[in-house]
Order: sequence, then structure tokens, then C-alpha cells
Amino acid sequence: MRPANISMPYFDILLEQLSLGEATVQQAFGRHVHWGYWANPDQADGSVEDFAIATENLCQRVYAATGVKEHDRLLDAGCGFGGAIASLNEQFQTLDMTGLNIDPRQLDRARQTVQPLANNQIEFIEGNACQLPFANQSMDVVLAVECIFHFPSREEFFREVRRVLRPGGRLGICDFVSTPVFKAFQQLLATFTKPMLSGTFGRVNSCFTLSDYRALAQKTGFRLTFQEDITRQTLPTYPIVCHVFNQAGSLKVVRDVAAIEKISQFGLLRYVILSFAIEE
Ligand SMILES: C[S@@+](CC[C@H](N)C(=O)[O-])C[C@H]1O[C@@H](n2cnc3c(N)ncnc32)[C@H](O)[C@@H]1O
Repeated sequence: MRPANISMPYFDILLEQLSLGEATVQQAFGRHVHWGYWANPDQADGSVEDFAIATENLCQRVYAATGVKEHDRLLDAGCGFGGAIASLNEQFQTLDMTGLNIDPRQLDRARQTVQPLANNQIEFIEGNACQLPFANQSMDVVLAVECIFHFPSREEFFREVRRVLRPGGRLGICDFVSTPVFKAFQQLLATFTKPMLSGTFGRVNSCFTLSDYRALAQKTGFRLTFQEDITRQTLPTYPIVCHVFNQAGSLKVVRDVAAIEKISQFGLLRYVILSFAIEE
């Protein structure tokens, strides 16, 4: 059962398809639920296998940019099915990792599928990324892989991350950011675009620009240490996501994802990896 306070229709579809044992959905989204990264997008072959490799590549790129190292205590906020933790678990030996998610159904799957390897420790807990259930200065790294746009407030999240990070702590995210023109367009047409997107994705705020991130970092005690625009390297994602949801019979998702593809192709919505260090 979906918890009453959460609405993410695309996850309802994924969870239903996974419970039916749908092989294509399992391969595309059984581990990571985010876009793919192709170093050379012209070589994307359009297959679900290729997409699964690309989603793993994206997640690795985010945590590499954040400088995860052995013995770190790491929080993955909005951890989905635990894909980033599963990947880190395979690459490191001594991490203490916690996955946090607002949706207990996703956490059930994460607990079933991700078991600690070597000397890693793994825990999955239910919670809201804007009210982190952790002590002050208790984490070395916080990741938020393609999920911050769902959170009630980017500012509350950054403040909470600042509180829980130790000196030397880092935050790594990937997010869709608007160009200033597209932000203005969305604000103007919010009455139309919001209901359209929420019917597929639930609560989403994509009205945030790179300058907004710089201002937010400064306001909340962070320094932007890394930024990479990987819009072009993510574009092969769209046809494959449309294919998977089309097979699942979810035509509204297909239409909405195709609309985001057009907006991204026009360069109005950018896909970025950002990492931040705390100002000491
Ligand atoms: C696009 S999925 C990304 C999942 C995962 N990070 C991944 O890359 O596979 C967005 C995730 O954000 C989670 N989420 C949304 N709002 C949240 C909140 N307020 N606190 C914690 N997690 C949240 C959703 O449940 C979902 O797992």
C-alpha cells in the first residue's frame, strides 16, 4: 500500500511492474531510478542493457565527484531502491552507509536486495530529507542522486545537510536545473505545468537555476567545489524510458517524459552534477 502522504505515480507503476516480475522494468529500474550517463551519447544503442550500464555510470560519476573515500560515514538521501549504496558497496570496503527514503515500499526492496559486502555497514531508514534523523556532525558525505527536486525545500535540505556534516564534509547531487528563461516560463505557466508534471512525478520543483544553487550554497554555509553539465550525455535516456513505460501501458508517463526530452534538447532544462564542501 502506498503511504497516504506520498504521491509519486511513476513509482507506483514501477513497484507494481516489479511485483509482477516484469523483466524489462527490473533491468531498467530495479537498481537505479535515474537517468543514464553516456560518455559518448552517439554510441548509445537504445537497449535496456545499455541503459542499465549508463545509470550505473551516472551514479558512479556523482559519488566520484563528491570524493567518497574508505571509512566515510555516508548518507544517501532519497535513496530509491538503494542503487547508489549497492554500487558503493561493490567499490569500497569500509563505508558506513545509510539510505534514507520517504517511501517505505522502496526501502523494503532496498533491504531485500542490498546486503553489505566486505567491512561495509548498511542501513535503510524511513524519513524526510528535510528533517534528517541524525545527530549534528555525524556524516562525512551526503548524496542526493536525482531526487532533490522532489524534496519539500532545497533550502531546508541544505540546512539539514550542513547540520549533520562533520568538518570537511561534502554534499554531492545531480539535478535538473532550469535556464533563467525556462524558470521564468515555468513561473508564468505554473497553473498548467504543475498539474501536468504532478500527475506523473508527484511534487516536483524544477524552477531552480545554477545561480540559485550558488546563492543557496552561500546562504547555507557551503562552497560549490564541482559542477558538470551532462545534459548531452543523458539525452539517450529519453527514448528508453519512454519505451519501458510504453510497454507498461503508462501513456501519460510516456507523453510527459517525451515533453521533458524536447525541453532538454532545446537546452532549456540542463542536467548537472554538483558537489559542495562546507565552509569552515
Ligand atoms: C528519481 S528517484 C531517485 C532514487 C535514487 N536516488 C536513485 O537514483 O535511484 C527520487 C527519490 O526521492 C525520494 N524522495 C522524494 N521525496 C523525498 C523526501 N522528502 N525525503 C526523502 N526521500 C524522498 C523518492 O521516494 C525516490 O526514491
